[in-house]
Amino acid sequence: MDIKILKPLGAEISGLDLNILSEDDSLKIRQCFLDNSVLIFRNQKLNPSQLKNISSLWGKPLVHPVFKGIEGYPEIIEIRNYGEQYHTNAHWHSDVTFEESPPDATLLYSLVVPEEGGDTLFSNQYLAYDDLDHDLKSELSEKKAIHSNIGVLMLSGGDLKDAKTVEHPIFREHPETGKKALYVTEAFVKKIKDLDPKESQQKLEFLYSHASQEKYIYRHKWSKGDLIVWDNRSVQHFAEHGYGDNERTMHRLTTSGSKPY
Ligand code: SIN
Repeated sequence: MDIKILKPLGAEISGLDLNILSEDDSLKIRQCFLDNSVLIFRNQKLNPSQLKNISSLWGKPLVHPVFKGIEGYPEIIEIRNYGEQYHTNAHWHSDVTFEESPPDATLLYSLVVPEEGGDTLFSNQYLAYDDLDHDLKSELSEKKAIHSNIGVLMLSGGDLKDAKTVEHPIFREHPETGKKALYVTEAFVKKIKDLDPKESQQKLEFLYSHASQEKYIYRHKWSKGDLIVWDNRSVQHFAEHGYGDNERTMHRLTTSGSKPY
């Protein structure tokens, strides 16, 4: 197995068929994931059953609370282009933070990729946290952000009676690495609890633009057969559009997580 470390986050692992992993390979992959937050495997052949099988390296596969899975695999959602008007993930987010225990990892496998556009951007939230001003860190260290599923419900045509909010810390400690990461996502956060609306809005706008600076970002240009696995506890991502009505089809699966602290 060859590992190429990318900057400012991520590692590309090659010389490996994910369908045939030794115990030692699995341990190395797990460690590399914790050290680099995003793993890239190219030229993989993964049908839904194999994708689900591999996901057990990161946890128990989860059924998405809003989007319906593919036939026979409720845990796998298909992300397919519907044209420029409907691009669901073109905003910075960590996955499903509107749940009490958001998923630890997401696996995204490319089936059809456009020649141009459709990159996914990943931003290192450990670095974003480290670089914050000391006073702001102290001020927000005990504060919670309120995350809501309303946007996803509206997008999916879900029942708005199922709308809910959850609270998570603004700075999250990674349960396995012990490092702190910035954990506010523009897609799902509504406000900072116990701040007046104006101050909450100002602070959030600052944190969003801080979190998505170029210096924290790895940009992935997809090829067919790429599998990317990212750590939702330390990374935010953004699915860029820019491929018009051309096809882009991916299979996505998330794995079980725990309550952020
Ligand atoms: C996602 O936001 O979960 C999917 C990202 C992508 O389609 O690139």
